Amino acid sequence: MRLCLGIESTAHTFGCGIVSFDGDIIANAKAQFVTDKGGLIPSEVARHHEEVKERVLKQALDAAKVTMADIELISYSAAPGLSPSLLVGLKFAQALANEHKKPLIGANHSVAHLTIGDLICKAKDPVYLYVSGPNTQVIAFAGKKYRIMGETLDVGLGNMFDKFAREIGLGFPGGPKIEKLAIGKYVELPYSVKGMDVSFAGMLTKALRFHKTGVSTDDLCYSLQETAFAMLAEIAERAMAHLDKFELLLIGGVAANKRLGNMLDDMCKARGAKFHAVPLEFSGDQGVMIAWQGVLQYVAGERLDVEQANIRPYERIDEVNVSWR
Ligand code: ATP
Ligand code: FE2
Repeated sequence: MRLCLGIESTAHTFGCGIVSFDGDIIANAKAQFVTDKGGLIPSEVARHHEEVKERVLKQALDAAKVTMADIELISYSAAPGLSPSLLVGLKFAQALANEHKKPLIGANHSVAHLTIGDLICKAKDPVYLYVSGPNTQVIAFAGKKYRIMGETLDVGLGNMFDKFAREIGLGFPGGPKIEKLAIGKYVELPYSVKGMDVSFAGMLTKALRFHKTGVSTDDLCYSLQETAFAMLAEIAERAMAHLDKFELLLIGGVAANKRLGNMLDDMCKARGAKFHAVPLEFSGDQGVMIAWQGVLQYVAGERLDVEQANIRPYERIDEVNVSWR
């Protein structure tokens, strides 16, 4: 079996994944830098990744019952992310490529989130709704690139949930806590859709003000979810309608939320479309998606000089040249 090792190190997760060139997932090992408050200090994250990298690689190889000799290709996350942690992945990948004489591919982490979703959900050409801590984007493949059709104009939805939860003392991360408490009745919060973009800052301010005036936490959690998710369903539906696409793929940490999944599923059913939610293990950061993205680029003919390999901390998804579609 032809195998690719993928190394993820854009942010809090250091991951090593192994996939076959046919798309079988063979191993998924990772270690996460965690804080109880959220937020990342780049140098601390990099130190964490340095400490765990050899162990995580060994875990992946052991789980796959292979050695580096059995790996045909190495792929690393070249973009986007925190420079110090991206550099740990780059240097590690370069050293492995040189030591074991393997070809190297650099992958864009955001694109890899989409392509692993396609692989796992067997999606062909979906509209993607990517909702994590910092990111809230509607993305679609159009005109040979992944295009951001709409996004948040201020805070990402996960971070908005986290901020609300922290301010009212629910702890971190806020999303899962808010989901558990979302059993109240509806109080009106600003519903803010501007074209294909959304905004969550006004909703956060209003909800915090309501909290001070004694509106119950259950009511606020319920109303935050209902309002924010309805906004996302609206822009996802508009993207599907404009682009004539009949699949929706949900990724990012907020994809764990059942109510969001149900609302999007209802919207898709109503328009004869198929809804896919990427399972949690593969919707968050991991090395498997970097491995699979490496396979796609390598099979499409991309080659990279190991010494020329770099990091691109600010590369956006629509800057990626899509060689594999
Ligand atoms: P990225 O991968 O885009 O850099 P990230 O690593 O911060 O972002 P994820 O790990 O994908 O993000 O997601 C974390 C976010 O998901 C947090 O903001 C958290 O509150 C939110 N989240 C997790 N579970 C749920 C849930 N059940 N409901 C709502 N939000 C959730
Ligand atoms: Fe990510």
